[in-house]
Amino acid sequence: MINSAKQLESLRNEIRKHDRLYYVEASPDISDFEYDKLMSRLKELERQYPEWITSDSPTRRIGDKLLGDFATVSHRVPMLSIENTYSIGELREFANRVQKNLPDSPIEWVAEPKVDGVAASLIFQNGAFVQALTRGNGRQGDDITNNARTIRDVPLRLTSAALTETLEVRGEIYMTNTDFAKLNERQAAKGAAVFANTRNLVAGSIKQLDPKICAERPLRFFAHSVGAVEGLHADNEMDFLLELQAAGISVVPHVRKFQSFDAAVNYCEEFVENLHCFDFEIDGLVFKVNRFVQREQLGSTAKSPRWAAAYKFEKYEAVTKLKEIRVQVGKTGTVTPVAELEPASIAGTTVSRASLHNAEEIERKDIRVGDFVVVEKAGKIIPHVVRVELHLRTEELPEFHFPTNCPECNEPLSKDEGGVYIRCTNIECPAQLKERIRFFAGRSAMNIDGLGDKIVEQLIHKKYVRSFGDLYRLTVEQLEKLERMGKRSADKLVAAINESKTRGLSRLLNALSIRHIGAETADILAKHFQNIDSLLQAEFAELEQIDMIGQIAAESIAEFFKSPHGLAVVEDLKSVGVTMTAAASSLPRNLIRKSQTSSASKSTLLFDVENDKKSDEQNQEQSLSQNAESDAFEPILADKTIVVTGKLERLKRDEIERLIKDFGGHASSSVSKSTDFVVAGADAGSKLTKAKELGVPIISEEEFLAMLPLE
Ligand code: IVH
Repeated sequence: MINSAKQLESLRNEIRKHDRLYYVEASPDISDFEYDKLMSRLKELERQYPEWITSDSPTRRIGDKLLGDFATVSHRVPMLSIENTYSIGELREFANRVQKNLPDSPIEWVAEPKVDGVAASLIFQNGAFVQALTRGNGRQGDDITNNARTIRDVPLRLTSAALTETLEVRGEIYMTNTDFAKLNERQAAKGAAVFANTRNLVAGSIKQLDPKICAERPLRFFAHSVGAVEGLHADNEMDFLLELQAAGISVVPHVRKFQSFDAAVNYCEEFVENLHCFDFEIDGLVFKVNRFVQREQLGSTAKSPRWAAAYKFEKYEAVTKLKEIRVQVGKTGTVTPVAELEPASIAGTTVSRASLHNAEEIERKDIRVGDFVVVEKAGKIIPHVVRVELHLRTEELPEFHFPTNCPECNEPLSKDEGGVYIRCTNIECPAQLKERIRFFAGRSAMNIDGLGDKIVEQLIHKKYVRSFGDLYRLTVEQLEKLERMGKRSADKLVAAINESKTRGLSRLLNALSIRHIGAETADILAKHFQNIDSLLQAEFAELEQIDMIGQIAAESIAEFFKSPHGLAVVEDLKSVGVTMTAAASSLPRNLIRKSQTSSASKSTLLFDVENDKKSDEQNQEQSLSQNAESDAFEPILADKTIVVTGKLERLKRDEIERLIKDFGGHASSSVSKSTDFVVAGADAGSKLTKAKELGVPIISEEEFLAMLPLE
């Protein structure tokens, strides 16, 4: 029995709470079925008592007013666009400009995902949602209020006290990849046309004249900016977004604040590697000055504000058939699924394998062998499967079941606590040992020339090698008996193994395959501690304090070096004479074998060392170099943005990128006017053409190597 408007309102509040839990906080506490029951009850009651219907009732989302056309409304504050950059070099130029315009004042930077949706402005009056506008031409937009009401995470009423009397929030209307795939499946089942991509679908949906159609499209909203407001509490982006969230508005996730631009740029790499974790399309990162006063000082051009820029990712995708799902064991025991694909051409390269990340992703995306999948390649990261084209699944396909035992050693697999990875925890698993030894000997680690995959396999199979230290105990007699090995190559390999003892702490730490510790972190640790003994003594708290070392990495380092296994690894390597102090350069001289044809003359040097431009880090590197006898090198590529394209002969892609970095430059993936030069190998395509068009200097791999003071 309903006896008051108050009771009806409390039912509405209950539904609003569940909307917020579901859409904003992503932690629903009732089932869809229970939610539907609450909603049906509300609809029924409102049907009985139409006099108590309010315009902000959750039932009003399903608009029934057919619109003749959209009204054009002027934006109170223009909706500007944003400057795009396509390389870290260009992005740095933007930051330098900002700093120049704000001399002597420290700038806090905020980095946010750039959501690939459709921009919209939502206006709340005294806490009630009153209007939604599209960006339109930036000055005037279309009134899409009735369609926006159908978007579940657009709150019709703010939960906490209204931030200000009038609050204009700007953000992105988008759709998740999962919802998109399901929608297309429904379309195909109806015999209707399938949609090409989420962005177009979103744009089409919010422009539907019948809000009922829009209501059928699972649209979502993320807030990312402030529009016209007066008397706002927050004086910076971060606080503003937190306030919006507290008021029940869903805000772009993974927003991070940095005290320096360099720290924000470092985040880029981490971010790009984790792009696959998002279930919505992201086409870049937006870098913004955090403090509003500084924004005002910077102002805007006619088109875009001077306090923000987007760093856009180059992304390409293709649809192809998934032939098989293989699982492989990594060096830290993670068992990861890999998609074997019917070869597809993506941005000029043939892709026949792609990452499937982990078991949960396969399940969440409902990926099955035989499906047609969308494969994406973004920048330098390996291709990955974005989603299944469910509508192209014409026959019943069996679900994929992740193996329960290690495909190599057959020990039962276990899932990381609180994590997503499935792991083989058998420390003696031959597959893991093989991966660890391969990595240890690899070019980014100890760089042992001649210790290739086939040899590693035999060494493990014959049980000559069960640990890193065993490598240094190998004898010529043992090695010469291996397949395709003679006395001479055995001699050479032993010499190369011996030579690798002096690579220094940074490479050694990377080589150990400690979870969450890659080349970057290893380098930071080596610079900080200088020798292994200081590192061994460091407690978690000290590690966590180090700039750029996060909690997870700190935990992992502490765990490894406090464990009997970790200590034994260190002791063993010490006993065979591996150097455990920081070397001046992380770059071994023999990384590059000089070719016979190269004259390597210094006259090909394009740039001089820029002493006055050196950062502190480079200065530190140089002062270290002066203490070392032979490995000193100068940051010849300081601040140069370099693009590598085409097939290289002597270096692998990651090796040349490492060289660029080691010599102070930035390796970028796209050519622009701020690219300093392009290193072009064979069959270089569009990047070479673009470099020619822009007049960017182009050099060969040989010329590039000759520029560097290598052996
Ligand atoms: S800030 C003055 N932050 O990208 C413009 N924009 O290509 C301030 N976008 O029109 C915008 N994610 O619609 C900002 N985290 C984010 C964004 C974002 C997506 C859109 C926005 C803008 C467009 C520019």
